[in-house]
Amino acid sequence: MRIIDDPKVIVIDHPLIVHKLTQIRNKNTGTNEFRRIVNEIGGLMVYEITRDLELEDVEIETPLAKLKTKQLAGEKLCVCPILRAGLGMVEGILQLIPSARVGHIGLYRNEETLEPVEYFAKFPNKLEDRLIIVVDPMLATGGRAVSAISLIKKRGGKNFKFVCLVAAPEGVKRLREAHPDVPIYIAALDDHLNDKGYIVPGLGDAGDRIFGTK
Ligand code: URA
Repeated sequence: MRIIDDPKVIVIDHPLIVHKLTQIRNKNTGTNEFRRIVNEIGGLMVYEITRDLELEDVEIETPLAKLKTKQLAGEKLCVCPILRAGLGMVEGILQLIPSARVGHIGLYRNEETLEPVEYFAKFPNKLEDRLIIVVDPMLATGGRAVSAISLIKKRGGKNFKFVCLVAAPEGVKRLREAHPDVPIYIAALDDHLNDKGYIVPGLGDAGDRIFGTK
């Protein structure tokens, strides 16, 4: 795990993640493989991201002896994909944390104000007690991530981590400024945004590549 100058921007550049990211950046990678690998990277990233989950003491019996050991301290998790591309990482994350709850948030861009507007939101209860892992493969301008986290905060969310595959410096800056409490975990920090809002070199439209749409 490599941390660039801001300790709350964490680039998870594990060799398996770097390799898999190269595969999905390749324009010749088809939908089936793209979808599978996005999920795999989601699982690998969440493995690192949950490194600081609390453990509690527990006593069990193995087939041979009593053992004082540790288990997860029942910290309640909520994975929250931003629709629709965020859905592509959820299954991979749930394979590692099957008991996590899943919230959904959908935002569209108002063409006049250019601001994201909520069109769908559904969350588990007790958001205020949960670690909320907001997931979106691409952090481009940062507008959707900022709005999604603001909306979840309005509903009581307090403890967040934001996870994406590829980020543009512009999006990282905007999200850090708007929500300085939220650490950002990324697999790669790319060069820039082009005039259409795509991350360069990026991987194209993540939603279209996951779902096979155009
Ligand atoms: N959303 C995407 O899917 N790709 C980008 O490059 C930017 C935003």
